[in-house]
Amino acid sequence: MSEHLSHNNVFLEFQSPEDMEPADQELLIAARNAMKLAYSPYSHFLVGAAVRVEDGSIIPGANQENASYGLVICAERSTLFTANNLGYGDKVKAIAIMAKGEDFETDKPVAPCGACRQVLKEFQDRAGQPIKIIFSGSTGPIHKYESIDELLPASFGPRDLNIQI
Ligand code: THU
Repeated sequence: MSEHLSHNNVFLEFQSPEDMEPADQELLIAARNAMKLAYSPYSHFLVGAAVRVEDGSIIPGANQENASYGLVICAERSTLFTANNLGYGDKVKAIAIMAKGEDFETDKPVAPCGACRQVLKEFQDRAGQPIKIIFSGSTGPIHKYESIDELLPASFGPRDLNIQI
């Protein structure tokens, strides 16, 4: 028998956006503004995301709901797919996410769901370098991860299919 440290959940915590480096601050502010783009008449939960790409452009996005509930697309995936559609599919460097209720503030970091982590993993594979992940509530601390690997250890990906992307 051997023992392994398999869950390497290392992150930085900041108490306010001003404590972060300017580029991260800017990205988190873009995610805050992107909460206005949420189409969420069913959950009344507003999730904004912003992706920074290689040339420095920032691409915003938000969750998109549907009367057929299972078709809901989270802010993270909505934004990543927009980045792809703008020609940045293999050029994503960082993503910031912020979420709140229509009638309540969130005071703890709102982490990306499992499905979005899987999609982020593939975008990281395409980028060939770590994608930084920053998320927070509408108030309270901000968490920053250096890559998807800390949030999705032991992941499944193109390599398992013997595919080089
Ligand atoms: N949601 C996101 O946009 N991102 C997540 O990582 C978790 C959930 C959205 C989906 C749905 O519109 C609402 O939040 C409630 O689940």
